[in-house]
Order: sequence, then structure tokens, then C-alpha cells
Amino acid sequence: MDKIRVKGGNELVGEVFVSAAKNSVLPIIAASILGNEKVTIKNAPMLEDVYVICNVLHELGCQLSIDNLNNKIIIDSRNVKPIDTSNNLVKKMRASFLVMGPMLSKFGRCKISLPGGCNIGSRPIDLHLKGFKALGADFEIGHGFVEVRADKLTGNRIYLDFPSVGATENIIMAAVLAKGTTIIENAAEEPEIKDLADFLNSMGAMIDGAGRGKIVIEGVESLKGTEHIPIYDRIEAGTYMVAGAITHSKIKINGINEEHLRPVIEKLKESGVRIDVLAEEQSIVVDGRNIIKAVDLKTMPYPGFPTDMQAQMMSLLALANGVSVITETVFENRFMHVSELMRMGANIKIDGRTALVEGVPKITGCEVKATDLRAGAAMILAGLVAEGETQITDIYHIDRGYVRIEDKLKNLGANIERY
Ligand code: EPZ
Repeated sequence: MDKIRVKGGNELVGEVFVSAAKNSVLPIIAASILGNEKVTIKNAPMLEDVYVICNVLHELGCQLSIDNLNNKIIIDSRNVKPIDTSNNLVKKMRASFLVMGPMLSKFGRCKISLPGGCNIGSRPIDLHLKGFKALGADFEIGHGFVEVRADKLTGNRIYLDFPSVGATENIIMAAVLAKGTTIIENAAEEPEIKDLADFLNSMGAMIDGAGRGKIVIEGVESLKGTEHIPIYDRIEAGTYMVAGAITHSKIKINGINEEHLRPVIEKLKESGVRIDVLAEEQSIVVDGRNIIKAVDLKTMPYPGFPTDMQAQMMSLLALANGVSVITETVFENRFMHVSELMRMGANIKIDGRTALVEGVPKITGCEVKATDLRAGAAMILAGLVAEGETQITDIYHIDRGYVRIEDKLKNLGANIERY
């Protein structure tokens, strides 16, 4: 099982290129099921999670060609069949559940294993099922599977108790071929939702308001093929912004949408990091050569501070001047990285969904675990400045969401290797 070894203390220099967004590409690949012609996804990030959802589509009868060299995925869904996907793939990655909306749309039925929880929370699907039910589907849960069926899907008004990203995406995909109008209220507003809608609209769907709290979908008869370049990964970009800050370096990050990164930019500025946005070239210069001050942060659905950046910010604030209060409001158990950071000498106290982070002058390298995707990235960030060497295990979590993170950091001057 691979590990990553980081020797702390190097200043970073140069520039890094951000890949396309994992959390855009996964729903877009699932949505490809809805097309009656080939779709091409360009600049696709070649990540473990992308391969998993491509395997799910292959199991359903889609023909896929994955060109790793040119980051291109071509999907032909004309032979897709309503078979039951294998238990292990959905268990392996929750996002595979995103095939449910398209399959329900195309065939009126779908049976898939319950995604189950993961390290960061129970990850329920009640809001997904509430949406499908509102569109006219029935569902049955049993023996670890959920099956949805509908003779036909009819547009309806759906209010989401929580602006769930996955539920918003699944309901959009179930509604695009439904008869009539669907209105989703209190919808998730993440940029990846708008990217999915742009992809589907380029196939002939009629979706308005994606990226805002109220989304209106007019059902259409069918969807054709398209070519699409997904948005940049704002969480990967934010992770490299923290890398520049935590190592007190000045680096340039290419592949930035300032609006998508607004909460991260503002929070890092508040902590004393100098940030210059070069909008015309979609780049950002991060200058972390100041003292990092303690700041309070609370994760919220977009446009609030992203939960997927909470662990990375905790690594930075573990070394800040003062005491920071970090509150995680989105997931119920997203502090698994705290005990790992404390092994390195961080001074953090947890009280429910709040962590009190008292900055320490230094942390020391040791063997730590990647407990989930973003926690793994946070451990690498901590290793960049820890005294001595840090070995990170279970890095398969990191490979799910970061394209060649050790190569990109090595190119910036970090002393890091996979072994
Ligand atoms: C997406 O997960 C992302 N994954 C997550 O990124 C991200 O952390 C999350 O959105 C929040 O932004 C992908 O896009 C593939 P949710 P998702 O449904 O859709 C509750 C990463 O690191 N909820 O918005 O599963 C749920 O319990 C990953 O890249 C219900 O109660 O997130 C949670 O507390 C991690 N009922 C909250 O909503 C439901 O039916 C947010 O979940 C669905 C969700």
C-alpha cells in the first residue's frame, strides 16, 4: 500500500496548474447516461473516483473510451440497460449513487446498493428519494438496496430541507426528461451544480437558475450529444493556496475562478495571507510570507466557506498566532484529522461540531493516517512545515480527489515522494 513521505521546511516557489473539478466531472459522467448520442468530456481529471463511476456506467452497458494521455473521456450511452449495478462499486464511492436520477429518467427504474456512510458522516439519501417521489416515483429499501420505479415522471415543486449537492444533482437529472415543469427550492448553489446544468443544457435540456437557490427545469423529449470542458477544481486550488500560506511562500496557481474561491480567498486574507487575483489569466498569486493570524471559520453550503477546505485550513491554523474556532456545520463527523494533527504536536480541542485550535510555534513529523480525502491533503500540508519527516498512510483516499499531488508539490520545491 503506497505511502507519501514529506520532509518539512522547504519554501515553495513557482507555479502549479489546477485540474478540472472532481465534483463536477462525477455528476457530468452520470448525466451522460441521459444522452442518445456520444458525449465528450475534455480536460477530464484522471482520478480514482472518475474511473469508479466510469466502471459503473460500463456495467450499465455504456461504451466508454478513456484517453489518459489527453484527459479525454468519450461516453456512448445508446446501449445502456436498467440492470442492477454491483454492490461493491457504489459502496466504494458514494457518488455512484448519482446514476439513480438518470436511470430513473431513462428507464423508469433503478436498483442500486445503498451508498452507506463514510468516515465523515452517515451520508443519508432521504432528500434524493423525496425528490424522486415528488416526480412520481415509488421506492423500496431492503437488503442493502434501494429501488426506485416510475411509470412516468411528472414535473413538480420540490423543497430541499437542506441544500444537498447530490440530491440537487440527482433531482435535476431525474427532471430533465420528465413531463412538465420542476422547481427545486433551497437547491444547492455550488458551482458544480451550474456546471452540470450547463452540460445538460448543451445536450438540449432546459434548466434555468442552476447555481442559485431556485432551479426551474422544463422537461424535454430527449437529449443529444455534446462536448464539455468542466470547471476548475476550486478545492484543489484552495489546497494549493494553503500550501503557499503554510510554507510562508509566494506561489502562482493557474486555473482559478475568483467567484468560486471567494470564501477561501477572504478567509486567507483575514489570516494575513497576501492574495493577488490575475483574473484575465485565471490565476492567483498567494504570498504567505507574513505571520499567519488565528481566524474563526464556520463551514456552510456555498457560497459559504466550503466544508471540503476545513481540514486544510485547520493545518494552517494549527500554526497560526492565536486561537482559532472552527465550526463544521455540514457533516457530523468531519474532525477525523484532528487526532492526526495532534500526533504532530497541534493543540486542538473538540467540542461537538466545534474545534478550538490554539496555534503552536512548530509541529513535528511522524507517521499519520489519511482518514478521508481532504484530511489526507491536510496531513500533506502539515508535513510541508513539520520538523523532520512525516509519513502519510492510506493515501488511496488522497488519490480519489487530487491529480498527482506529490508531483505538483515537488514541482513547487517540496521535498515529497510516494513510496
Ligand atoms: C458533495 O457530497 C461532495 N461530493 C462532497 O465532497 C462535499 O463535501 C459535499 O457535497 C458538500 O459540499 C461530490 O460532489 C461527489 P450533500 P454530497 O448531499 O452530495 C446531508 C469531497 O471531499 N444530506 O450536500 O454527498 C448530509 O448528511 C467530497 O470532494 C441529507 O441529510 O453532500 C450532509 O450532512 C466529500 N440527506 C449534508 O446534507 C440527503 O439526502 C451535505 O451533504 C443528502 C444529504
